[in-house]
Amino acid sequence: MYETLARITIFLGVPRIMNDVTEREVPEAAAGNSLLRKLFAVHPVVAPERSGAERLRQTLSVWALMAIGIGATIGTGIFVLTGTVAANESGPAITLSLMIAAFGSGLAALCYAEFAAFLPVPGSAYSYTYATLGEVVAWFIGWNLLLEYGISASAVAVSWSAYVVNLLAEVHIHLPADWINAPFAQNAAGHLVATGAIINVPAMLIVLALSALCYVGIQETARATNFMVALKVAVIVIFIVAGLKFVNPANWHPYIPPNTGTFGHFGWTGVLQGAGIIFFSYVGFDTASTTALEARNPQRDLPLGIIGTLVISTLLYVAMAAAITGMVPYFKLNVAEPVAAALDAHPALSWLGVFLKLGIIAGMTSVILTSILGQPRILLSMADDGLLPPAMSRCHRRFKTPHVATAITGIGAALIAGVFPLDVLADLISIGILLAFAVVCIGVLVMRHTRPEVHRPFRVPAARLLCPLGGVVCLGMTYFLSDATWIRLVVWTAVGGAIYVFYGFKHSKQRS
Ligand code: ALA
Repeated sequence: MYETLARITIFLGVPRIMNDVTEREVPEAAAGNSLLRKLFAVHPVVAPERSGAERLRQTLSVWALMAIGIGATIGTGIFVLTGTVAANESGPAITLSLMIAAFGSGLAALCYAEFAAFLPVPGSAYSYTYATLGEVVAWFIGWNLLLEYGISASAVAVSWSAYVVNLLAEVHIHLPADWINAPFAQNAAGHLVATGAIINVPAMLIVLALSALCYVGIQETARATNFMVALKVAVIVIFIVAGLKFVNPANWHPYIPPNTGTFGHFGWTGVLQGAGIIFFSYVGFDTASTTALEARNPQRDLPLGIIGTLVISTLLYVAMAAAITGMVPYFKLNVAEPVAAALDAHPALSWLGVFLKLGIIAGMTSVILTSILGQPRILLSMADDGLLPPAMSRCHRRFKTPHVATAITGIGAALIAGVFPLDVLADLISIGILLAFAVVCIGVLVMRHTRPEVHRPFRVPAARLLCPLGGVVCLGMTYFLSDATWIRLVVWTAVGGAIYVFYGFKHSKQRS
């Protein structure tokens, strides 16, 4: 077993060989596979002080990290998808779907925490994978993290735009429909069809404005995030407490409505499909890991920030979903603003209306902001490794931010926000991130074998059980996402693969 593992590590080019005897025994296996060795070359575990910490400002406390995590996590998922998933897939068992998604995310969070504590670098899962499973897998993960951060900013901007347009309409400001909607929508068969609209301008503007804030500084971003996080958490707690009086337990029966005969339409397959879709709500809990170089005490605070974010988000989500489905029958929640629909059903709660919408808009703003914050830091790590052009890792002398990567992220995310609808983006993000989480779970076990001597300030308990389980649960959730989403993932991966082949492979510093 020990020898087999050593053979595999040599075959894949893992530089740290497990013992001299094994290294002498199988050198020809490595020599004959140089292309594979290049593709799977692993990055050495780099101490934070060597990886560019001096370019950035270390100001983030554990609370700031948690605020960034919650800021990046609680948004469109709970405020929009909870209602649509309850109405179409899970029924009142949306709370169960949320808990299943939280279970998979929780196992991944433990793995992230172990990695983040001993490898506090801004590349997050990309860097962890580079250190364990090698370059080509790391590229795939880094490319998928673009979904988590850059594209998730676009997705949330789309629902931000809908809420803002709706709020403006309440004060009789009506914007032209052609300029507030995406030119494409997804039909029932999963195909993109033209809507006749031109572009979603508000979605683009919010992305550009928040990118400008990220360009200017981490502290300014953290301050704005703290304010918005406080507002959205307050809104959720007030909604739950005020709504309790109006919950009718009869609305929770049947808890799992019987399957209609279609896969994923209620019944247990509906609960599981609902978990795959609502997983989007948890996307972002690991964002704190991308600010590793800006944390004051990353080895202690990153695990706390990541796990704390997930625990708080899960508690709020399950309570909120139980309140919504208790206040309104689940089949009435297939609307763009399910939380508002729950309020409207109870006129005694109308006083909460505007405050609620402002809180939701603030909540979505913080998700967009923190997503834009995370993305350039991943690009910076990839550029440091030579897999992207060096301009991406350049930091602004005065602002101490990765300004080029921030500008590129902002422009790219704004264009995507202007053109695509929410459901297409949300499902693509979920599938990409679930795969990334599965790889991180496996990576922890690989690293335990290849670098057993590295001090780990945080360790996943019962890793031999929980890491594979995390991988299986995350992969399992991808099974329930639609075929169209899988096809889009293949296209997305092919585009990323082409960039790797024509740029990253040639310029990788690991090889030079
Ligand atoms: N988890 C984030 C949201 O739900 C992406 O908006």
